[in-house]
Amino acid sequence: MAGKFYIKTFGCQMNEYDSGKMADVLRASENMEQTDAPEEADIILFNTCSVREKAQEKVFSDLGRARLLKRSRPGLLIGVGGCVASQEGEEIVKRAPYVDLVFGPQTFHRLPQLIAARRAGGRPQVDVSFPEIEKFDHLPASGATMGSAFVSVMEGCSKYCSYCVVPYTRGDEMSRPFADVMREVQALVAQGVGEITLLGQNVNAWRGATEDGESADLAFLLRAIAALGGVQRLRYTTSHPNEMTRRLIEVYAEIPKLASHLHLPVQSGSDRILAAMKRGYTALEYKSLVRKLRAARPDIVLTSDFIVGFPGETERDFEATMKLIEEVGFDSSFSFVYSPRPGTPAAEMADDTPQEIRAERLYRLQARIGEQEQAVSRAMLGSIQRVLVDGVSRKDGLELAGRADNNRVVNFSGAPGMAGRFVNVKITAALSHTLRGELMAEQI
Ligand code: SAH
Ligand code: SF4
Ligand code: F3S
Repeated sequence: MAGKFYIKTFGCQMNEYDSGKMADVLRASENMEQTDAPEEADIILFNTCSVREKAQEKVFSDLGRARLLKRSRPGLLIGVGGCVASQEGEEIVKRAPYVDLVFGPQTFHRLPQLIAARRAGGRPQVDVSFPEIEKFDHLPASGATMGSAFVSVMEGCSKYCSYCVVPYTRGDEMSRPFADVMREVQALVAQGVGEITLLGQNVNAWRGATEDGESADLAFLLRAIAALGGVQRLRYTTSHPNEMTRRLIEVYAEIPKLASHLHLPVQSGSDRILAAMKRGYTALEYKSLVRKLRAARPDIVLTSDFIVGFPGETERDFEATMKLIEEVGFDSSFSFVYSPRPGTPAAEMADDTPQEIRAERLYRLQARIGEQEQAVSRAMLGSIQRVLVDGVSRKDGLELAGRADNNRVVNFSGAPGMAGRFVNVKITAALSHTLRGELMAEQI
């Protein structure tokens, strides 16, 4: 082995997927080994997120710590990848001159060349370009053998919501070809992966040409994957309400393997704010979508993302969001205080909501969502859930943790060897964020 690398990941599941691929690249072409201990690493990579200011600033404090390690290990290479790298480029090297490599979400497959150039005595290497999806053609096969795996099917975003950096950091929407995705899924299934989660910033906008040149959509792709024998459960995230087509909704009625959980970010319940955000739908249109989804799959659980304190949000606008939360009955969701991002249109909008009011709205929203989360959990009491075992519980080493079809975490006693398998668990208690259950006799 030629040394060790350490990767710290911030941000969304796209970044987690990319970090896994970066590790594959370093293992395959540098013959390196991954470590959890930054102090023993020869390469430290930060896969960064810039969606909110806090996430971005966190990277610079972590970089400061890596710099101290470099003092005692002069050969150590420090790299910054992901969305901060994409947005800041050369600026990172100006602000932190000890950084050796800067690469974007579309260029990490070029890490071997960047490392070689830097080691050959070159200056810090920066490559944050957006080549046509070439990275997937240059990635080694993954060695994952967990029960569940991510497959990225789309890159970028072309929605340009007024507050969001993603279209600028990851480029416009680009779909991977159908055959390419199927090949990756088949390889995972052959390794024993039973649950596949398709990833993209707006994964439901996926369009790809099939082998006979026809244009396929996500509904088609989900059907094709569900038809593979080894696939037991299918998920996809994140979806945009405007891309939730009739065809996609129909898949919920037809394919039981598709999980009864949809993450469908709404952001706000006020039409005025939704328009200022450039989301392209009204609260009524969103509710109508939810109605259709529930008609196709009555037990579907919906989770969402919310931004509170968007520029100009009044108490009335916020109340409209609270009303929508109640009407839809969202399960556990992500909610954020609006964070102005340089270069986005919303950052130029008049914004006079005091921070205390934003914080108070966030608190109220989260309390409401928490109550609804409890209601979803209570409704599951006594039911038998099909749980995919993730492994030993983080809180209690004698317990297993897994996920039910509706994405809820379930803890129960069982043998560690069950990791990666689907088991039946009877739900016996609803705690604040998780459920407890008892393992049922295994079915053959
Ligand atoms: N593509 C997805 C999510 C992208 S980012 C979607 O559109 O739904 C994840 C979440 O971060 C967003 O849904 C939004 O709620 C939040 N977010 C994005 N930009 C933000 C900003 N400037 N301030 C606060 N939250 C933001
Ligand atoms: Fe950002 Fe909007 Fe794209 Fe989501 S859809 S990534 S919020 S621009
Ligand atoms: Fe963050 Fe980039 Fe994902 S900004 S949320 S890591 S797409």
